[in-house]
Amino acid sequence: MEIIKTVAEMSRWVQEQRTKGHTLALVPTMGFFHEGHLSLMRRAGELVDRVIVSLFVNPSQFAAHEDLDAYPRAFARDAALAEAEGVAVLFCPEVDDIYPPGFQTTVAVSELTSKLCGKSRPHHFAGVTTVVAKLFNIVAPQYAVFGEKDFQQLAVIRRMVRDLNMQVSLVGHAIVREKDGLAMSSRNAYLSKAERRQALCLWHALQEAKALVQAGERHSGRVAKRVRDVLLAHGPCQIDYIELVNRDTLERSSTIDHRVLLALAVRIGTTRLIDNACLLHGGDKNV
Ligand code: PAF
Repeated sequence: MEIIKTVAEMSRWVQEQRTKGHTLALVPTMGFFHEGHLSLMRRAGELVDRVIVSLFVNPSQFAAHEDLDAYPRAFARDAALAEAEGVAVLFCPEVDDIYPPGFQTTVAVSELTSKLCGKSRPHHFAGVTTVVAKLFNIVAPQYAVFGEKDFQQLAVIRRMVRDLNMQVSLVGHAIVREKDGLAMSSRNAYLSKAERRQALCLWHALQEAKALVQAGERHSGRVAKRVRDVLLAHGPCQIDYIELVNRDTLERSSTIDHRVLLALAVRIGTTRLIDNACLLHGGDKNV
């Protein structure tokens, strides 16, 4: 596996591979790999013959009060894990190379980013779409693979790709969970032992919602109320949102059908966790 640290070198490598007729897939990450990331790399490897993983903790998607400095980093371990997955290149540029002096362009999707996580993180998605657009321009991959835990992020990136006619096919990959159901996330590393136990409230709430819907409940308000009760029954937490939304438009839905997704954002201690699931059979297989 090659480790490439500059945009110029990455562009040269891409050009060379294209000349040789290789196909490319990109897995954009911020590192601190867990099984979720590794499964994205494996999925990418099924699609093309060269997988590029970008590892860049993107400052522009963190607000001043958020966890940029504390964001977990483990470069040597990440490199070993990516190499073991058969990744061709780990692309880890410096901040100044991605945002050189004088940088002043933003790629922003408007409506989809005003909902859900966008309410409490108003600048987050513009940071994501700007860096992802740059990565797509640098790597020019045929495919890019993203996890569905950040389903709003994926919906926003899909919108950007459609709106800007970007020549990349997006692939969403199902949420990967710990054995007990907690969705894998680099931020789980922040949880104390007690918080880790409490964090299972998200999984239990999704399970409870699914059971209700399987029993015939289709009223979003009643499901949301039960979900709130389950979350709070596990201990004090700050519920950022419990929303039942159309998975494409992210519009709230008062009734539940196959396109409706239950999305949660909950702060356990100081750690903000998100999770989601479709509640009707056939919607997804995560819950
Ligand atoms: O999902 C992430 O890790 C980040 O938001 C991404 C897509 C790598 C952009 O920085």
